[in-house]
Amino acid sequence: MPNHADTLRGAPVLVPKGPDLGLFGPLGLREPAVYGTGTLADIEELRRTVAAARGLHADCRQSNHEGVLTDAVHEARTVHRGIVINPAGYSHTSVALRDALAAAGLPVVEVHLSDIHRREAFRHHSHVPAVADTVICGAGAHGDAMALTHLAQLLEENR
Ligand code: DQA
Repeated sequence: MPNHADTLRGAPVLVPKGPDLGLFGPLGLREPAVYGTGTLADIEELRRTVAAARGLHADCRQSNHEGVLTDAVHEARTVHRGIVINPAGYSHTSVALRDALAAAGLPVVEVHLSDIHRREAFRHHSHVPAVADTVICGAGAHGDAMALTHLAQLLEENR
């Protein structure tokens, strides 16, 4: 088993979250039955801790704007080694974000807190899996930890 923390040496990875995923408060401001009651700060802390343990530096972002997310993915081409993205509502609508991810030429892991396949029909299709290496959904905040661990493995294999 490789020791990622030694070999990846703090490689920067982009971890963007899409619209409405900033709406987590101590009381679970956004549909707590679906998304849990953790705050965005809790989730980001978990991400940074897991990333560091795997030798990655998680550059966490959240935006409600498609263009901001698309620009961040463009920037990642030259700055980051991989992407763990929860595009939120844009998963189902944004061809631009999908195209940016395809152009980035980086390993991509798509994450959803909820299991989108067991929810409303309009959530069943995401544009992102076609350009992602892996999709993780339905594991709540733990999905981010799984995604970062998996991204470290992909980077280790392709070093
Ligand atoms: C989500 C699922 C999307 O359908 C929804 O629009 C979100 C969150 C998830 O993490 O489960 O905003 O991406």
